[in-house]
This record gives sequence, C-alpha cells and structure tokens, in this order.
Amino acid sequence: MKIFYNKTELNHRLNALKTNGNSIGFVPTMGALHQGHLSLVNEGLKKNTVVVVSIFVNPTQFDNKEDLVKYPRTLDRDVELLQSISEDSIIVFAPTVEDIYESKIQSQSFTFDGLEHEMEGAFRQGHFDGVGTIVKRLFDIVKPDYAYFGEKDFQQLQIIKKLVELHHLSVKVVGCPIYRADDGLAMSSRNTRLTKAHRSAAPFIYDTLKSAKYKFGTKSAKNVTEWVVEQFKNHKLLELEYFIIADTKTLKPVKRKSIKKSYRAFIAVYAGDIRLIDNIALN
Ligand code: PAF
Repeated sequence: MKIFYNKTELNHRLNALKTNGNSIGFVPTMGALHQGHLSLVNEGLKKNTVVVVSIFVNPTQFDNKEDLVKYPRTLDRDVELLQSISEDSIIVFAPTVEDIYESKIQSQSFTFDGLEHEMEGAFRQGHFDGVGTIVKRLFDIVKPDYAYFGEKDFQQLQIIKKLVELHHLSVKVVGCPIYRADDGLAMSSRNTRLTKAHRSAAPFIYDTLKSAKYKFGTKSAKNVTEWVVEQFKNHKLLELEYFIIADTKTLKPVKRKSIKKSYRAFIAVYAGDIRLIDNIALN
C-alpha cells in the first residue's frame, strides 16, 4: 500500500491517476481507525477506482488541549487495517502538521448559514472553524470526486455539505450510516480510551436515544428532553452535556413539532473525561 507523507508527492500520484480517468474517493480521518471508518472506505471503493484515506490529527479543531495530546495515534495499525481491505486501491495520506499548516497553525473563520452555532458549535469553541479549515485544505489537495463522512458526526456532515455548496467545490459529499458495536455504542476512536466501567455503561446512550425516539411519536420535544435529562440525573458513570431535538436541515432546536419536518435527536455525554456524541433520526 502506498503511503504519502507530504502533499507534493501525493499530488503527483493523484494527477497521474486522474489523467487516466480514474475516479477518486476520499475518506478524511484522524486515524485510530475502527470498523466505522472501514465502512466508509468500503463505500468509497464501490464507486471509485482509488480511495484516499487521510490520517491527520487536526490541531485546530480541538478546543481542549488535553484531548488533542491524548488523541490515539496508531498509524501502523491503521495501515494494517486498510491493507486488510485492499493493497492496491487505497492510498494513505499521513501529512505532518507543517505540511498542512506551514508555520501558522491557525484556522480560518467560516460561516455555515448558522449550522455552526448549534450543539457542537456551541459547546466546542472554534471546533467547526478547525474542521472547515482542514477539510477545505484536504479537498484542495486531494480534489476527490466523492468524499465520505459518517452520520455519527451528523452536524459535521451537514456543515461539510454547506462548505461545498458555499465554496462551489466540485466534490460530492456522501453521508454514511452510523456504525455501532453489537451493544449499540457508536464506533468512535475515543472509545478505546474508555475505562472498562465506562465502556460497559456507554451503551446506555444509544438505549436512551432509542427510547427517546419511541416517546417522540406521542410526546412533545420538551417532554422527551425532560425525560432524557431525568434518565441521566442519577447516573453514576455518565454525565449528560446536552440532549437536543433539532430540525434535520437547520439543526435548530424544535419548538413545535410539524409532521412536514424531519427531526433528529443529538446527545453529548461525558464518560469520565471522554466525551461521546451520538444521534438518531426521529421520523
Ligand atoms: O471526523 C473527523 O474525524 C474529523 O473531524 C475530520 C473530518 C477528519 C477532520 O479532521
């Protein structure tokens, strides 16, 4: 498998592939790959001759320094996992921070029609400026035909679709379903940092989302939200940061339900010092 550590060499390879009419898929990641990432790569391989997987822990999207320092970095294992899918059709791009940011590790400022102010945007200062900066740079480098993102970060997915629309980028963004462990926990690179006790407790998050979905059939968003808050109130291991039922398109919290609109419930929970997010379509 070919691994490129800088953009110039990657560009040469991709230009040659594009000249030969190959379609390029792209899966941006921060590494510590799991089955969720691999499902994105497999989706990409269905439609493209080559899938580029970037592995880059992007410093500008972390609002918490400790989270950045402790973020798992497992390049050798990541490459092995990708090799188990395909030797020839996957290209790994693992650039250095200098290659991406040169001497200025700073994000650009973005607006995404207000999507950036909700949920993760409200709770993680500057997060979506960091995500917008890195994804736009990576799109500029890779120039993919298709790019694949998981719905676990549903807000991020909507923001990237908006980035593409507002900046007239030619890539097509494909959202892929959340990949879950057998007990329902959404796959995340951060799961590896959970203690045994927190890992055992964590499926409670998805169980609660499923119950919230059921309740939303007959109850108001306010009632369902109060019920969820109550479930976490006395939980010994999980601390609720937010539970929000929002309009799928605008991501604004729902005030009054309408049968014409589509809604999703979003949740962020602390398991010790590990922050987990998840979401579920409600209708
Ligand atoms: O979802 C992620 O892993 C990151 O936010 C992304 C899209 C790779 C940008 O760093």
